[in-house]
Amino acid sequence: MTNHWHGILPSALSAVGQTPLVALTRLAQQEGLQCTLLGKAECFSVGGSVKDRIARRMIERAEADGRLVPGESVIIEPTSGNTGIGLALISAVKGYRCIITLPDKMSREKEATLRALGAEVIRTPTAAAWDSEESHIGVAKKLRDAIPGGIILDQYSNENNPLAHYYETYEEIKHSLTTSDLANKRIAALVAGAGTGGTITGLSRALRDDQERQHRDAQEDGEVDGTQRAVVVAVDPVGSILGGGEVGPYQVEGIGYDFVPKVLDPEKPNIDCWVKTNDDEAFAMVHRVIRTEGLLVGGSSGAALAGTMKFLREDPVGKKLAQQKDANIVVILPDGIRNYISKEWFLDGSLHAPPSNLAHEIAHILNRDITPASSVKQNGSNHHHVNGAAGKVAHEQGGIVHVDHVKVREGESGGDPCVAAGESRGAGEK
Ligand SMILES: Cc1ncc(COP(=O)(O)O)c(C=O)c1O
Repeated sequence: MTNHWHGILPSALSAVGQTPLVALTRLAQQEGLQCTLLGKAECFSVGGSVKDRIARRMIERAEADGRLVPGESVIIEPTSGNTGIGLALISAVKGYRCIITLPDKMSREKEATLRALGAEVIRTPTAAAWDSEESHIGVAKKLRDAIPGGIILDQYSNENNPLAHYYETYEEIKHSLTTSDLANKRIAALVAGAGTGGTITGLSRALRDDQERQHRDAQEDGEVDGTQRAVVVAVDPVGSILGGGEVGPYQVEGIGYDFVPKVLDPEKPNIDCWVKTNDDEAFAMVHRVIRTEGLLVGGSSGAALAGTMKFLREDPVGKKLAQQKDANIVVILPDGIRNYISKEWFLDGSLHAPPSNLAHEIAHILNRDITPASSVKQNGSNHHHVNGAAGKVAHEQGGIVHVDHVKVREGESGGDPCVAAGESRGAGEK
């Protein structure tokens, strides 16, 4: 599958994944890191996110086992954002009708993209409890039960979610490393945010299995494989319970939850430690990456990188890795800024940013005001609330939590495939 776009693609579906691993050299230098910092830029996937592969795999597997029939089935998902866009894109190419139910709080950009792809979009009240009839889940179930051919694939319990990363995303990372000119082509640490947990669970399982295989092969050849066990670091926003702490509001989209999704395997040996991040550090990092590396990443990418820096600065293992020249630190950057262009946290650092010295100089030369017209703030609405209600959250300032100390409320997602999408807390978006 690791074809990396040779020749002509039969359709957009072949442009799912195959994303580049990019050296974040300037960022690493600024941070005084000796290690090799590598970002897997998922915004290059055809639908713009890490979710395209799982959407394709969930659809193709459901087709293979006869649950999904082209021309007959209607894909309904009580979710939004990136999984919705992936499903809608594949539905567009394959000719499925697609209905996305999503809470009001989801961005206009996501709704516009979904509609452009031909999906029907039904907004639901954000405050509705996940198990109420008015919630996006309740509405999706109602539609599934009433529409002939209606089917909910459910990323939170669907095994094809982590499997897409096990078989595809991990192989892509390996391909990038083995075809690189790096002296060491192994992964020392892998960092990813967790929403459903499909990305980090699939990747860490693949990494563990791969390392075991390498050890076994070396033993069989009578050699000693001296490679250190790779560290897997999960990033979780303050306000989510996945990495410990209490439920609270936060703005970063796509990561964090108030229950443990079925597809997330949060314990050792899968995940070694959890790093908590807050909105401010995530959004500041987005602007930094865009400005220094030219990578137009989204909010959860900022969180993943902010978490990486915390791990490399504060964790004893991370500190050692930070100083090792041949240590490859792979960070998953799940989507791009396209989804967040109208968000105040993005505009604050772009259209609303104070003019530079060069801008002053230009204004002087041209003898006119060159301030962007839309930089005028409306009624102070650009103030975002950072974890406002989470005053008592133990992990408020963020930090590192080793998995031995994480207490998760296991089984809260229950057996209903839709429960997992039941974000009653109004925090992260999926
Ligand atoms: C922007 C963004 N980042 C990160 C994630 C987390 O990925 P996963 O659900 O595989 O944990 C998601 C999931 O929707 C997302 O949309």
